[in-house]
Amino acid sequence: MPRAASPSKRIQKTPDVSVRSTPTPQAVGERAYEASLRPQTLEEFVGQAGVKKHLRVFLAAAKKRKEALEHVLFSGPAGLGKTTLATIVAGELGTNLRVTSGGAIEKTGDLAAILTNLEEGDLLFVDEIHRLPRVVEEVLYSAMEDFFLDVVLGQGPGAKTVRLTISRFTLIGATTRVGMLSAPFRDRFGVTHRLTFYTEEEIVTILRRSSRLLRVDLDDEAAARLAQSSRGTPRVANRLLKRARDLAEVEEGRRITVELAGRSLALLEVDARGLDAVDRTLLTTVIDVFGGGPVGLTTLAAATHEDEETLEGVTEPYLLQLGFLQRTPRGRVATPAAYVHLGRPLPAEKHPQLL
Ligand SMILES: Nc1ncnc2c1ncn2[C@@H]1O[C@H](COP(=O)(O)OP(=O)(O)O)[C@@H](O)[C@H]1O
Ligand SMILES: [Mg+2]
Repeated sequence: MPRAASPSKRIQKTPDVSVRSTPTPQAVGERAYEASLRPQTLEEFVGQAGVKKHLRVFLAAAKKRKEALEHVLFSGPAGLGKTTLATIVAGELGTNLRVTSGGAIEKTGDLAAILTNLEEGDLLFVDEIHRLPRVVEEVLYSAMEDFFLDVVLGQGPGAKTVRLTISRFTLIGATTRVGMLSAPFRDRFGVTHRLTFYTEEEIVTILRRSSRLLRVDLDDEAAARLAQSSRGTPRVANRLLKRARDLAEVEEGRRITVELAGRSLALLEVDARGLDAVDRTLLTTVIDVFGGGPVGLTTLAAATHEDEETLEGVTEPYLLQLGFLQRTPRGRVATPAAYVHLGRPLPAEKHPQLL
């Protein structure tokens, strides 16, 4: 199969969406770097076998029928490949990919401006789609289902509703917090894929690929060591690799040994289970300040000076996966495994079965 042309050429930032914050030079560098390591075809995309299998069938069918795809929703923790899959889908179909984000669309007018500029068959990627205001979400329903929009012009008694037809497009939504989408909204996606954490083996494969692209030698043991600390997350793996490469470069080497990887992780304060300072702060706060929990997310966010969205979308999923944290109806609870990992004595009265 011929390699799909780089989809990046066709990716257009929707011009109607204003950029709210000026990214720091470091964030820009980090993003460019991320783009350079991004797989461009399904073949290059490691892991998520179930998702890939389904997407292959789905893409083949769409190409045959030559009609717009059903709307697709990718959910799962940050850094697992949602944006990457959206660009791959666009690349495989050879269609335009318009990119925007839920937080950038404040009013139905913003949405109307984007939708009416779409061409037949375009893909519209809405990142962080759970951030769309509810009124905008509701307007989107008719656009997704029947490709029209009812826009109210003016106010008060003189207001009129104008119906705008829009081109058949495909919405690709991505979210770290699928639970925040209303059921009717979720139902309008023909396909929903939940991305899950990668195995250490898969992360090693990703690290190998990235190290080739970055032209740095990565020892087997070093790859395994970095993979252990990557939280099952490709973005984290690539970041840890880049930091190790930086350290190797400072020391005028082009080779990452397990010893160097270990020192690099120590500098980053990432421990052997992949926990970073934020994870440890969250767990120690639950344990030391709230007696092990249960404690609500909002309270935790305030106590740790982190924002709720980061805690729920980035920090918690991995701690839940490790079994260091549990979600109960009354809030978050630290598990005995977390106490042990942090070297805290187990509270006898809470876990009598363990003593
Ligand atoms: N399955 C994968 N195989 C290889 N690299 C991946 C994979 N998934 C993600 N990545 C890498 O991880 C980084 C983050 O992926 P991204 O799609 O931006 O995650 P998300 O949108 O879910 O936060 C990208 O730079 C990409 O190179
Ligand atoms: Mg993304």
